[in-house]
Amino acid sequence: MKSKSINSILLLIFVVTMLAFPIGSYSISVGTKSAATTSEILTPAPKLQPRINGPLVYGCRPGHYFLYRIPCQGERPITFAAKGLPKELNLDPATGIITGMAPVKGEYPVVLQAINSKGKYKRNFKIISGDQLALTPPMGYNHWYAHYDRVTDKMMREAADVMIKSGMADVGYQYVNIDDCWMNAPKNNDPKRVGPLRDEKGNINTNTYFPDMKGLTDYIHNKGLKAGIYTSPGTLTCGGFTGAYQHEEQDARQFAAWGFDFLKYDWCSYGQIIGKDKSLDAYQKPYRQMGKILKSLDRDIVFNLCQYGMGDVWKWGEEIGAQCWRTSGDLGFELDKIFDVAINNSKHGDYSKPGSWNDPDYIQIGYIGDAGKMGLPHLTPMPPVMQFAYMSLWCLMASPLVYSGDMSKLDEFTINVLCNPEVIDIDQDPLGKGGKVTLLPNNCFIMVKDLADGSKAVGLFNRGKDPVEVTADWNTLQLSGKQKIRDLWRQKELGIFQEKFSSLIPAQGVVLVKIRK
Ligand code: GLA
Repeated sequence: MKSKSINSILLLIFVVTMLAFPIGSYSISVGTKSAATTSEILTPAPKLQPRINGPLVYGCRPGHYFLYRIPCQGERPITFAAKGLPKELNLDPATGIITGMAPVKGEYPVVLQAINSKGKYKRNFKIISGDQLALTPPMGYNHWYAHYDRVTDKMMREAADVMIKSGMADVGYQYVNIDDCWMNAPKNNDPKRVGPLRDEKGNINTNTYFPDMKGLTDYIHNKGLKAGIYTSPGTLTCGGFTGAYQHEEQDARQFAAWGFDFLKYDWCSYGQIIGKDKSLDAYQKPYRQMGKILKSLDRDIVFNLCQYGMGDVWKWGEEIGAQCWRTSGDLGFELDKIFDVAINNSKHGDYSKPGSWNDPDYIQIGYIGDAGKMGLPHLTPMPPVMQFAYMSLWCLMASPLVYSGDMSKLDEFTINVLCNPEVIDIDQDPLGKGGKVTLLPNNCFIMVKDLADGSKAVGLFNRGKDPVEVTADWNTLQLSGKQKIRDLWRQKELGIFQEKFSSLIPAQGVVLVKIRK
């Protein structure tokens, strides 16, 4: 009798542990089904009642075109309302899309509301009209790691469709960004991407896969989403396509006229222009120039620097007018690299603040192409638990959350990793702090991010090959007394803890918690 009850207790402990820490094998399915078994899905399914997500603060510049789609989960139709919306802005109650002109300089506290047949939800949303954009890290999609030099207008429209249909836009993904290879190249394997680089007036030509840029941005904007574009200050982009050299202002004006809201400016061949000059001035020059040009335009364009961290860009990116900057070379795709990249990126966490974000490159999960060979998209071999670690790291570092995989093959598991609103709230926290790392024995570490409400987000990570119990103690976290702990991936209260919190972390995995009084 006694041993029977001990056995059932042991069985219960085993089942609970397996449910809480699914470390078993995972199956990779073919096609668009799923990258993982359903037991590995951590994010609870969204409820039918409305839940408004997205940033609590939003920056815009007075008199400029304003566009914001209220990210909201729940069964549609949903009716939206917004109390305190400046008179220059207009909300479509059926779509939740706010459009208009950004109001005069000032802070505008708004209460967003969503109602459907199942319930009602309210969320504060402060519009700050002034100088700053991207008061929280930009969220969106970039085509690079899926489509490389195969990108087309059709793929970008599809990405916008999927951003809405998959629910990504309902948790805050917003930018649909074209990377390299939309222009003509002097030479390329695909003759349809070769042609005159510019017209007789010097205006940049798109290649035949992008017949109508204004049509494309209109398509994206009509869904309440925003559009991004890419170029280089050099004569050629990294992919060998036309760069902006000596046409910087003309091209920037063209991007604004086409309706783009985001510019990635990639160093590439600019090194040939500076030659042997390796001074800070030389590194800054093209970015300072474009920063000034973008500021002079009557359109809000988020400025994303891509120069791989040269000259400690995190120290001066904001000053030259950028909102985010890559802190290192291309992430490419190698298992385990994400931990090193994150630990290095977090060293610049003190420079992270509203309107100023360190960018450790994109989220590559789901179907991605081999970065080295620019291959066709295939399912990531990254273990599911590690994908939760990847997303947790990026959120703790307040990184831009830019998904770069094949949107046409988004599966349930990948959406589950990308779309947990409680995890995304950590990334979008209005304080804008970058997470700090404490290394622990056994190849483990914790990353801690201070949040605006006085609480902390803590990720417990295990880089090793076996599960390890990892402890975050109050001394390291600078906490004292009783603390409430919530598991953010599972959206579940874990209880009240004193002195420390320990958890068994799967190999290459994470437990991400919020700790509050
Ligand atoms: C560089 C950038 C990448 C991508 C490619 C495009 O490698 O770092 O993010 O934009 O160029 O050619």
